[in-house]
Amino acid sequence: MSEERLSERSKKVSGSSNRVYSEDVLITGDRYTSIDFMEKEMDKLWPRVWNIGGWSNEIPESGDFVTHPLGRESILMVRQTDGSVKAFHNVCPHRGNRLVHSNIGSVPEFTCTYHGWKFDHGGTLIYAQDEEDFPQGNPCGKLTLSEIPCEVYAGFVWYNMDENCFPLSGFLGEVKTYFDMHDLDGMKRVYHKVCEVPFNWKALRDNFCESYHLPMTHPQISDYFDDDYKNTDFELFETGHNLMKMKGCLPSLRNSGTFEVNDKIEADLKNWDLDPTDFEGEAHKVREALQKQKRKLGPKRGFKHFNDMPDAWLTDAFHFNIFPGTSITFTAEVVSLQRTEPHPIDPNKSIYDHWQMALKANDSDNPETNPTMLVASPEELVEWKEVEKKVVIYGEETLSEVADQDLDRSSGQQLGFQSRGFKGAYLSGQENRVQQFHNFIDRYINKI
Ligand code: FES
Ligand SMILES: [Fe+2]
Repeated sequence: MSEERLSERSKKVSGSSNRVYSEDVLITGDRYTSIDFMEKEMDKLWPRVWNIGGWSNEIPESGDFVTHPLGRESILMVRQTDGSVKAFHNVCPHRGNRLVHSNIGSVPEFTCTYHGWKFDHGGTLIYAQDEEDFPQGNPCGKLTLSEIPCEVYAGFVWYNMDENCFPLSGFLGEVKTYFDMHDLDGMKRVYHKVCEVPFNWKALRDNFCESYHLPMTHPQISDYFDDDYKNTDFELFETGHNLMKMKGCLPSLRNSGTFEVNDKIEADLKNWDLDPTDFEGEAHKVREALQKQKRKLGPKRGFKHFNDMPDAWLTDAFHFNIFPGTSITFTAEVVSLQRTEPHPIDPNKSIYDHWQMALKANDSDNPETNPTMLVASPEELVEWKEVEKKVVIYGEETLSEVADQDLDRSSGQQLGFQSRGFKGAYLSGQENRVQQFHNFIDRYINKI
């Protein structure tokens, strides 16, 4: 790739961002297909970043645990009596058996299935058969599970396999300021599906790092979100994370003459006690009116965090890509998480995870539009309650309309990545977050 082309692309940045990368990596197919590249990521990338291991509400009581598989690793997170959570590598220090084989549960202590060693919730060995028969001395009270840094923040349980890592707040950087404005701790996870998918984890990450694909891949989105990049703000942070601020309750300004109030916008107006007939032919004026109305009524309806939010948060989508594998999209009342994580051995596959968290619909919500106090999930309105994880076979069940469209495109891309004819991505300015993502991957894997 010529220097000229690199600098032109790097400078052509949309929205509010003007970051320039001097060392853009060429995004070639082997990054998605090669075992060698996958192993570098396993070795140098994933063990050095903060990962979300669970949703705090799923382990409320002391002794509750959840495990998180990440590539070939497995991390065990356990709620302690003081309410904190500790994280350990899920491996028995005796002879290396995997300690816990279930995803979630609650136990008085952890017992290894091989020789019966027992560990308390803090990870200390409390029982070993024939404890007197160890020439090194009785291991009880001495040996522990291998503990790693763990923090509970914004409703999530985070861990980092690097014992010398920066605290989570340093890893998140400016992103934390945004997260703090919302009320994730007050949410319930109302949707949770997981699926093995036929593409490398980075294919979908690239997808979430650009909105260039929206008009073609998700034409339905333009009814409600302005997908024109010229009206969208993008921020690329020095931490490797990035943010897209997409204007909501505003039909795409790409399409002239679409200023009629459509069904989605009408439902929003009614829910916030505004009259759709006041906006006939003027749907582009709804966003601002709705912001004012939400500002006025939101706190009375229980959405106290609206007081801390700028106007744009009340209507728009704030789509964060948390390096490397997670997207978290905030709207005023719901937050969704989508991520892909590496398959243990196959670079052509990954694990896709889709969550949605929602705030309680308030009693004063319009009973005509929401008589049963249901909240939004990616597929339908659902009850406001914590759900269990559902494992889905790819292609047999939906993972939501929009996600299905993205997963389909990433699957097609994985086929193309294996072609000799693919010489490397040729990015538009508005896809510069894709470039940022790959640049940061290389920073990690090239670091000693
Ligand atoms: S490997 Fe766990 S008790 Fe032996
Ligand atoms: Fe998409």
